[in-house]
Amino acid sequence: MDITTYLEQKRQDVDRFLDSVIPAENCPPATLHKSMRYSLFAGGKRVRPILAIAAYEAVGVSSPSILPCAAALELVHTYSLIHDDLPAMDNDDYRRGKLTNHKVFGEAMAILAGDALLTMAFDLISRNSLDGVDAVAQIQVVQELAGGAGNAGMVAGQVADIEAEGKDITFATLEGVHRWKTGKLIRAAVRIGGILAGASPTALKDLTAYAEEIGLAFQIADDVLNVVGSREELGKDTHTDASRGKKTYPAFFGVQGARKLADERVVSAIQYLQNFDSKADPLRDLARYIARKH
Ligand code: IPE
Ligand code: IPE
Ligand code: MG
Ligand code: MG
Repeated sequence: MDITTYLEQKRQDVDRFLDSVIPAENCPPATLHKSMRYSLFAGGKRVRPILAIAAYEAVGVSSPSILPCAAALELVHTYSLIHDDLPAMDNDDYRRGKLTNHKVFGEAMAILAGDALLTMAFDLISRNSLDGVDAVAQIQVVQELAGGAGNAGMVAGQVADIEAEGKDITFATLEGVHRWKTGKLIRAAVRIGGILAGASPTALKDLTAYAEEIGLAFQIADDVLNVVGSREELGKDTHTDASRGKKTYPAFFGVQGARKLADERVVSAIQYLQNFDSKADPLRDLARYIARKH
């Protein structure tokens, strides 16, 4: 199956599942559910849930029990985007091709929708209806998600990103920001897939190394697109990093240099999958997709 078809099929699976668990727009508190649905169904690529599914399948299993955990990753990611766009943070007006959440629902509701999405993620993965998953693996998944999202994960990266704004940071600092703000949740996604599929310690180590490489490639690509992309194409405003005084990969290496570094990460990520068979092909394709297209 080519990667475009794979992405589309998995995206539909994730979206169907999400739609079934998020309360309807008219369900009280209606404004909150409207606001949550507005951002969630605005058309994200669903890269993190798809990475979890692809890692799960790479280990050799395929059953519906991955979907709640895959969906939870998207809930956490969407919350992070809503908060990232707030005036107190990046102050952005467009996301996923639409006005940002706070532009439509106001800052208070945007904050609350983010809070509720994050909380719902942990509700989903801790339900006892996660069929076929043993309790130890389920607790490990909860830990992975918390680690990837919180003060030891994405939030830590957001703090470092904000503190680096307008400063003449070193390359090592920049790489650190990327590894945390984007890398940690991607790492959690891949590891959650592996854990749910019962990956051996060696397989999980390889998957983790793969994830760390693509996490970096992902944010390098995001930085490049901020320079060369357009709002029509990306659904969000571009050239914002430079105007906000953010030193990014293209600021250090130029667009071509940054692209090359992202490509190197992809090659390295794929090498870490050498002990996996063709069931890991979607993971290999996802690595290439992330650096090239997203
Ligand atoms: C954008 O993430 C924010 C970053 C962490 C770089 P995505 O590029 O996955 O955005 P969506 O989910 O497709 O909107
Ligand atoms: C977003 O990073 C990372 C998150 C944790 C949300 P950016 O601020 O660089 O991403 P965009 O460009 O707004 O999507
Ligand atoms: Mg930001
Ligand atoms: Mg931003």
